[in-house]
Amino acid sequence: MWGAAPVFAVWRLKRALNVGLEKELKEAVKLVCGSVNEMIWSKEESMDSDSGNDLLSKFLKAGLDVELVRNMVISFLMAGTDSTSAAVTWLLWLLTGHRKIEKQVVDEVTSIKNSEQLGFDDLKGMNFMKACLCESMRLYPPLVLLPVVLSPMKHICY
Ligand code: HEM
Repeated sequence: MWGAAPVFAVWRLKRALNVGLEKELKEAVKLVCGSVNEMIWSKEESMDSDSGNDLLSKFLKAGLDVELVRNMVISFLMAGTDSTSAAVTWLLWLLTGHRKIEKQVVDEVTSIKNSEQLGFDDLKGMNFMKACLCESMRLYPPLVLLPVVLSPMKHICY
């Protein structure tokens, strides 16, 4: 822990002076927050006209604070993007090395009625695909390292 102490000092100083990576981080956070705010505002405007069945509409209709909704959207974006792309990348890579299995996956997908226009419900019928995805995630977990730091708290629920 002592070895890391000077590093903390460096980024704290950079943050205080608003230079280097800390400056870039601040700008990036501003950009992400701005984009998500626009997404929320445009959803609020269109909520009366569309069916409002999506998660964002549900959060807004529940009357949640806009800042809370914005933070939830950001955490969904962050948590969902790399994890899903890594999982799909490993699956596709494994399938390219196992042509027989790849054919079985393709057969399963094309055997579904209206396979040109697949929907969420069609996933329920893709048992072979699910097995491949599970095996691929077993072999190559998308989130290998998940560091969790517990901040000092007086009470942890018990
Ligand atoms: C293959 C894809 C995914 C994998 C492997 C994955 C894996 C994980 C793991 C291991 C955690 C930590 C659980 C814990 O120990 O607390 C987690 C948390 C989380 N994931 Fe995913 N995830 C995936 C996709 C997604 C997607 C698509 C979303 C959102 C659209 C999402 C949203 C979240 C959120 C919000 C948390 C935090 C939950 C909490 O704070 O309790 N994840 N995920």
